[in-house]
Amino acid sequence: MRAVICTRYGPPEVLRLEELATPAPRKNEVRIRILATAVTSSDCYVRGLNLSPAYRIMARLALGWNAPRQPVLGMVLSGEVDSVGSDVKSFEVGERVFGFNRHLFGTYAQYVCWPEDGLLATRPASLTDEEAAAIPYGGLLALHFLHKAGVRAGQRVLVYGASGAVGTSAVQLARHFGAQVTGVCSTANVDLVASLGATTVIDYTSEDFTEKAARYDLIFDAVGKRKSAASLRQCRQVLAPGGACVSVDEGTPKLRREDLVLLGELATKGEIRPVIDRTYALDDIVEAHRYVDSGHKRGNVVVAVT
Ligand SMILES: NC(=O)c1ccc[n+]([C@@H]2O[C@H](COP(=O)([O-])OP(=O)(O)OC[C@H]3O[C@@H](n4cnc5c(N)ncnc54)[C@H](OP(=O)(O)O)[C@@H]3O)[C@@H](O)[C@H]2O)c1
Repeated sequence: MRAVICTRYGPPEVLRLEELATPAPRKNEVRIRILATAVTSSDCYVRGLNLSPAYRIMARLALGWNAPRQPVLGMVLSGEVDSVGSDVKSFEVGERVFGFNRHLFGTYAQYVCWPEDGLLATRPASLTDEEAAAIPYGGLLALHFLHKAGVRAGQRVLVYGASGAVGTSAVQLARHFGAQVTGVCSTANVDLVASLGATTVIDYTSEDFTEKAARYDLIFDAVGKRKSAASLRQCRQVLAPGGACVSVDEGTPKLRREDLVLLGELATKGEIRPVIDRTYALDDIVEAHRYVDSGHKRGNVVVAVT
């Protein structure tokens, strides 16, 4: 099969397209023929180990010292079950699936084998594979943090970084839960964020939300503390009494299969829509990583795998 391997930690150029043996599923695994994947910000962290020194050592211990032990990166997929292990009960050959696996990776390839009980669910029939691949990463992370913060109908929720993969999902999901949403983003993304259901959009290049009169029950930092720390230093002063701040960088999120199923249902009903910035071919993965490294993608960068 064609697959992209990560030859060592470093810039996008460490990625290389190769021919690898097609994997065979173990008893509890399904083999998926991948039709689309996504280049996520997490993929870029793994490839570049662009982390603080302490985290870099922990990451090397967990992932492999000089290069990832699993050389094929990629955490997200949409595709078709192509073969099943002897114990598999929940999926059949030919079923269309989408999913996310932040431990096994392997989706920058034509095939991958994942356990059937992971974050894998039936792909909404109304979506293309590219659209389905744009849902799990931002959707599952945003759902985790919104649940953790106890988001409720009627709350005033501010999403800081409303135009990224997590941000575009957070705006739409908070609105789905009945919150009144304010999105913060740069000038180029104001219209996009409004179209996702934010009732107010603040352009951080010209306004500082921490100096305005509006108050919020929940401030969700969807950018990540390394970039957001300076801008959010004063954010507690615009919290309503009893309000809370939560950051996408807090702890290790518990991602749940039932949330993936919910995301599929919401997408089918049109309550959330995948936001795709650019679509690349697998051959152009280096270019895709360069773009995601910029830190300013709109929603998701998808890779079509043919
Ligand atoms: N806790 C975990 O385990 C975990 C797992 C995965 C990801 N994360 C975190 O989640 C973060 C977000 O992921 P993502 O994929 O959604 O990122 P992304 O798609 O790259 O989006 C980041 C968004 O942030 C905005 N942004 C960038 N710099 C900014 C700044 N200085 N001030 C305000 N906005 C800024 C950009 O919008 P503009 O272009 O409009 O500026 C961009 O749309 C990651 O960076 C990572 O820190 C955490």
